[in-house]
Amino acid sequence: MSKRSPVSRSGRFAGGPSADVAKFTESISFDWRLWRHDLLGSMAHATMLQRIGILTKSEQIAIIKGLERIGQEIIRGEFRWKPELEDVHMNIEAELTRRVPAGAKLHTGRSRNDQVALDLRLWLRDEIVELADEIRTLQKALVDLGARNAEVAIPGYTHLQRAQPVSVAHHLLAYVEMLERDCQRFAECFRRVNVCPLGNAALAGSTLPLDRELVARLLGFVDAKGKPQLTQNSMDGVSDRDFAVEFCAAAALLAAHLSRLAEDLILWVTSEFNFIRIADAYTTGSSLMPQKKNPDVAELTRGKAGRVFGNLVALLTLLKGLPMTYNRDLQEDKERLFDTVDTVRATVRLMAAMLNNTTVNADRCAAAASDPALLATDLADYLVRKGALFRQAHHAVGAVVALAEKAGQPINRLSVEELQSIDKRFGSDAINVFNLRRAMSSRTIIGSPGQREVKKQLARWLKRLR
Ligand code: ARG
Repeated sequence: MSKRSPVSRSGRFAGGPSADVAKFTESISFDWRLWRHDLLGSMAHATMLQRIGILTKSEQIAIIKGLERIGQEIIRGEFRWKPELEDVHMNIEAELTRRVPAGAKLHTGRSRNDQVALDLRLWLRDEIVELADEIRTLQKALVDLGARNAEVAIPGYTHLQRAQPVSVAHHLLAYVEMLERDCQRFAECFRRVNVCPLGNAALAGSTLPLDRELVARLLGFVDAKGKPQLTQNSMDGVSDRDFAVEFCAAAALLAAHLSRLAEDLILWVTSEFNFIRIADAYTTGSSLMPQKKNPDVAELTRGKAGRVFGNLVALLTLLKGLPMTYNRDLQEDKERLFDTVDTVRATVRLMAAMLNNTTVNADRCAAAASDPALLATDLADYLVRKGALFRQAHHAVGAVVALAEKAGQPINRLSVEELQSIDKRFGSDAINVFNLRRAMSSRTIIGSPGQREVKKQLARWLKRLR
């Protein structure tokens, strides 16, 4: 196969690669999606080449117009991608040059090595901005579901055993905090993605007086003060992909958080918990059992974390043995990065939509939260207030629990006399400990699940996420 093209194979080669080799080495089947950023990079490069006198003004204009036209054709689905031209960069350049003679000057001082690093950074920058927006939407969905159920208490669990009372809102806000740190990690990552590698050419820059700062400015590679951000070593600039690894690492943590949230929802929607109801649209049935309603969206959220982790490890492995500088291995970075972005973005979006279509079964939550054993620690605190050392109090309440268990009674049904048989400091007011509302309102410290604190946190988030 492989017709000789003016771009893909230089005068060095007598013939094209074999069909098998072409198929093995092509990347157009997946890197075509970088087209928009490839065009932007080429336009900025052409503008710079004109400024330094390599292109005339009319050549620059012809190139930019030609690139714009190609962009419109791609959008309309009319552009024909040719596998024999290997990748997105050569497809676009070859077609431009076929139409616009000055296209043959576009690659002056540039290599696909700095071009692909540029395209990936430009592409990832946009994806990070959009992902961050979607995470905000998910945080809002969590806060809204919490706000709709601000007063609904549920048991908090450790070891998946009932521990102490919390509230639905408090539980959901825990995920809002995790997602906030995820957003911070992506913002940090963005700073290091936002550095321009163009001008590094193949690995050693160029003898031509390229104006790298101009290109960086044109493409928005600037810091908060507007100062252009450039890679400072040409070999590093073409060959490292740590910015992609960093993104995948932040995405892996995000996926882990989403997976935990999914696991909670999966538990809560079981008949055993029955704390929530997920709208039918976010569940599926069984092909055999007519009664089934399965939380597949949540389960796939949990499952997809595995592939996001896998992508991170694949990228790290890809990089670890590479000698300087560019090696074709690096072409393998794209599918892992694309898959990571696509997977986490879809998961975040679906999770938000599902939460917006989830209701809390307040009665079932109330029944579970009314378990007086959840307040055993409060009973120990009661004894501490009466002067007991905490270790004594812990021991005494342990004995109360054992006594109740022996009597086949919940711990709030023991008489004052029975309590006093364990510790004289128990008074008739001990029973008040088991008033759940009162118990919750005594949780006033920062970060605790008391009603006032949770309301304060909900209000803080609602304001931030507006
Ligand atoms: N498709 C290639 C990649 O994704 C572009 C860079 C090719 N450079 C080269 N020297 N063969 O990495």
